[in-house]
Amino acid sequence: MSGASLAEKDTDSSGVKNSTKKIPEPHSSPFYNRLVPTYQAFWPAVARRRIIATIESLSIPPDSKVLEVGVGTGMSLDSYPHNISLTGVDLSEAMLAEAQNLINEKGYQHINVLPMNAENLEFPDSSFDMVMSFHTISVVSDPRKMMSEIVRVCKPGGRILLINHFRSENPLIARVVDSAGNITKRLGWRTDLNIDEVISDLPLRLDDCYKTSKLSLFTVMKATCKPELATA
Ligand SMILES: C[S@@+](CC[C@H](N)C(=O)[O-])C[C@H]1O[C@@H](n2cnc3c(N)ncnc32)[C@H](O)[C@@H]1O
Repeated sequence: MSGASLAEKDTDSSGVKNSTKKIPEPHSSPFYNRLVPTYQAFWPAVARRRIIATIESLSIPPDSKVLEVGVGTGMSLDSYPHNISLTGVDLSEAMLAEAQNLINEKGYQHINVLPMNAENLEFPDSSFDMVMSFHTISVVSDPRKMMSEIVRVCKPGGRILLINHFRSENPLIARVVDSAGNITKRLGWRTDLNIDEVISDLPLRLDDCYKTSKLSLFTVMKATCKPELATA
């Protein structure tokens, strides 16, 4: 799929009109574009089960409008119920092309993917009932900006779900992982991101924050968006 065909859609699967009528410029993400074959070969074995279990744990209600930020090759797409409307965005057109192939192959009518920068989401405020992001916030250049965009586009009372590696509170583990950070930085991943740094001062209620196993490097974070504005 070309960037243009992804970009030409001016309405996402959730029926939300993109805030501006202009067609988003296809973003270039050369690093992830080159990474696709390697990524497809090893990453699903590491991350897929955790994503499936976490999405299932949300029991997403029918007709929900859901956004996944940094949808990548679409590894999570099979895990969502089919009676919702799901929009996936990512900076890398090569990653999105894989996701679009999967959507075409499976005939998914409820999913739409678009090229978009997580730090500048092109949706109106309060567009989505739920916003998800897996393994992306430590990859973007400004994690806090990405998080504030997620909060902006999520409805009051909506749910936010992140799965990511965050800096361990255990100083020993943090030091070990920090040293690996010199390697992962070359892969575009930060290992020193602190969860408080990302969510502090944002209108969120942290509902849950846990690891799926003791030794897991990844944290699941579930939050409620703008809870004080939510109607019962
Ligand atoms: C480690 S991959 C995770 C992909 C997918 N969520 C998963 O768990 O398999 C990080 C993804 O973030 C995307 N990405 C990086 N910077 C981005 C940005 N500023 N806006 C949107 N997506 C971005 C990359 O293209 C890549 O697909």
